[in-house]
Amino acid sequence: MNHTYYQDDIVEKVRSSSDIVEVIGRYVKLQKKGSSYFGLCPFHNEKSPSFSVSQQKQMYYCFGCQAGGNVFTFLMEYENLSFPEAIKMLAERAGIELPEVEYSEEAKRAKDRRSKLMEVNREAAKYFYYQLRSPQGQKGLDYFRSRQLTEETMKQFGLGFSNVTSDDLVKYLKSKGYEDDLIMEAGLASFDERYGFHDKFWNRVMFPIQDVSNKVIGFGGRVMGDGKPKYLNSPETPIFDKSRNLYGLNFARSSRSKYVILCEGYMDVIAMHQAGFNMAVASLGTAFTAGQANLLRRYAEEVILAYDSDEAGTKAALRAIEILNEVDLPGRVLSLEPFKDPDEFIKNRGKDAFLERINSARNSFFFELDVLSRNYDLEDPESKTRFHKEIAKKICSFNEEVKRDNYIEAVCDKYGIGPEALRKLISSYAMKTGDATPVERPRSGIVSKNAEGEGKKNVQRLFLTWMAEEPRLYAAVKKYVSPDDFTEEIFRKVATELFRQIDDDCINPAAIISMFGDEESQRSAASVFNARLESVNSRQEKEKAFHDILYSLKKNSYDYYSSKLGSDVDALKQVIDGKKALEEINKIHITLEED
Ligand code: CTP
Ligand code: MN
Repeated sequence: MNHTYYQDDIVEKVRSSSDIVEVIGRYVKLQKKGSSYFGLCPFHNEKSPSFSVSQQKQMYYCFGCQAGGNVFTFLMEYENLSFPEAIKMLAERAGIELPEVEYSEEAKRAKDRRSKLMEVNREAAKYFYYQLRSPQGQKGLDYFRSRQLTEETMKQFGLGFSNVTSDDLVKYLKSKGYEDDLIMEAGLASFDERYGFHDKFWNRVMFPIQDVSNKVIGFGGRVMGDGKPKYLNSPETPIFDKSRNLYGLNFARSSRSKYVILCEGYMDVIAMHQAGFNMAVASLGTAFTAGQANLLRRYAEEVILAYDSDEAGTKAALRAIEILNEVDLPGRVLSLEPFKDPDEFIKNRGKDAFLERINSARNSFFFELDVLSRNYDLEDPESKTRFHKEIAKKICSFNEEVKRDNYIEAVCDKYGIGPEALRKLISSYAMKTGDATPVERPRSGIVSKNAEGEGKKNVQRLFLTWMAEEPRLYAAVKKYVSPDDFTEEIFRKVATELFRQIDDDCINPAAIISMFGDEESQRSAASVFNARLESVNSRQEKEKAFHDILYSLKKNSYDYYSSKLGSDVDALKQVIDGKKALEEINKIHITLEED
């Protein structure tokens, strides 16, 4: 396996000279319990330790938030380092000299381009920042002051100003040696017939948008006065993915609060932070996305929605609730009445009143019902009945019985419905949809489309977990299973290496994780070794469970290659061998020898 930056043996040398317990111990207070060390998870907020570090596996895993990986993954997540940066940091500590970096041509170009884009953004942010504090930026400074921002707040958020002149930034950046096409790709300039090559932002107060590691990845600019559009934002670029970043998250991530406050505006975030609510974030001039919700899940247990109180804000809040539901992140909705947004609320009522509103924020389900009830005339029995049916339909979608019961109770209290009547409605609704027990709610829209795909992925993962936990089994199955049976690229790589390690009798999970260069893949690879096998009681049950997994793995692979017949030349051999293997697997019995 070849890394983009360093050779595998060097990576492994650095890793094996950096004891994970010692490295993590410098960030997290660890205590030995049994064969592992435990501490408070640094990746989510918790009161009792569910973060474990295994010296033997050289891996960490959090039972609470499922963060996991090896010593590199830890530093990448904790210090926001890239993989090569994490390698460098540990190599330095261990006194290992790294060879000159060898990039593949393509990787080099992409990396250079990204860091160039970061650089030109940082340069532009500095320029705007400086303009705000010079005579030509007086207007902007007055504007921010009129909105009651302190100098300190302006500094913290790196606020700036783009001049009335429409090409001074471009001129400045060019004088610093940046090329037109880079400035353009960063979204800092546009080209048109009338103005030629000119600044995208002018006569606006500027909000630099930073990623979680404080790098400027884009800008929002608010017009002075009433011009249109009120806010102008950088376009998406290779470094600016609006669906995976949130304004203010670089500060909010270390707030150590149980919840985050999600709002719509840059000014709202800033006003909240200035008032001490440093867990506030906003989406980036676009609708809240599942990617952002997943990101928030890493930092908070709950989201308080502080959307504008007008109709558009309410609609956006309803949509955000749906997305939070999809990723199973509880939400509550804060009322800003009679004000429009958090900024105005805090200006008028102050921070204590705002904190009260946070504390009394409503459960998102009741917020949805409240909005829904506005479409019905509850004085009219017909209309009221329709409303109750809608409630039944919503409750029906909860997959846990306790949850359904609790909501039935609460809803009945609130809307004066008899619990028995509501229960009947719910079951009649469930019958009508042909499903007496409500269907399992998928965790996200994407997964629901792919539920089958997820299942197959799980089989591959689970099989590898079996191999890692019971390596003796490999001998019995190796004639049926090969890395080609793993259709997920990550698991195929893990399988290739794990099977080799088992053959050599030297299982080394942490080394397998460092075959992957990004956190997401490292996390997936680590999941193989972090998963626990269902605690099945008897040996027979265990043997049956394993046999089932083996069969499913092979069957999925057989189906996969069958569907490739005709388009893939290797498929035929896989199908023929697969068929034979399935027949044999059906006949064999696999024994788990007792120790
Ligand atoms: N927004 C945008 N483009 C617009 C209007 C709004 O991208 N034309 C985004 C911006 O990110 C803005 C957010 O939507 O911060 C909220 O918009 P709005 O409620 O109109 O603005 P406020 O935040 O209240 O701004 P201000 O207080 O400066 O009027
Ligand atoms: Mn506002």
